[in-house]
Amino acid sequence: MPELILAAKNLRKSYDLGEAAVPVLKGLDFSVSAGEFVAVLGPSGCGKSTLLNILGLMDAPNEGEVLFRGSPVSSMDESARARVRNEGLGFLFQFDSLLPEFTILENVVMPARIAIACGRSRETLTQAQEQALSLLRELGLERLRDRFPVQTSGGERQRAALCRALINRPALILADEPTGNLDRKNGEKVFDDLKALASQNGTAVVMATHNEAACRWASRTVHMSDGILGSGLDF
Ligand SMILES: Nc1ncnc2c1ncn2[C@@H]1O[C@H](COP(=O)(O)OP(=O)(O)O)[C@@H](O)[C@H]1O
Ligand SMILES: [Mg+2]
Repeated sequence: MPELILAAKNLRKSYDLGEAAVPVLKGLDFSVSAGEFVAVLGPSGCGKSTLLNILGLMDAPNEGEVLFRGSPVSSMDESARARVRNEGLGFLFQFDSLLPEFTILENVVMPARIAIACGRSRETLTQAQEQALSLLRELGLERLRDRFPVQTSGGERQRAALCRALINRPALILADEPTGNLDRKNGEKVFDDLKALASQNGTAVVMATHNEAACRWASRTVHMSDGILGSGLDF
């Protein structure tokens, strides 16, 4: 049996808009195992980002719990959650998330630099830089190492963000509409690279998307509607 990386049980989340609380997640269950690439497919506004923010420990559910490798994590304090985020999870967002004042290489190294500064890594900065360069090389981006994000294309930035998501060798990458800002050709390149690098590194992926075509990169698709997940077709 592949290891269960992340599980969520009975997640409930409402947004409080003054008079009325708007329920978005209504008792949702979810799990992802090692080696899986799961697409969460649903229309805009159905709660995919809300779910990923909770799975990624950036937001807390009103009810329910997230388990990372069997340990409850969503109820931990912020510093413990930050540690799981930094060491165990990688993130890819729709919009540019690279830090504009740092070069591509510095951006990719950043999560490793944080882990080292917090005394959580046995790696040296030089080793982390080598690992970052090897990830960039694999995607043909090494030549961009000393450029700033503004000096690169949207597709290149998103693929550099993928290298950053992998630098600490996370168990899981959470990708929220990772190609939403790109044209089809560049979007497909991001999906190809995401799938290839995740599989090479043994990293599971959960990807939120409203685009059915994106699900062909996934090993499993779940449909989100009315605040819960239904099973989808296995490809
Ligand atoms: N911070 C917030 N405050 C109030 N409502 C929110 C907030 N974030 C999201 N929502 C609402 O929750 C619903 C789900 O949003 P979201 O998770 O972003 O959906 P998706 O990612 O599937 O487009 C939407 O109706 C949205 O308007
Ligand atoms: Mg969203």
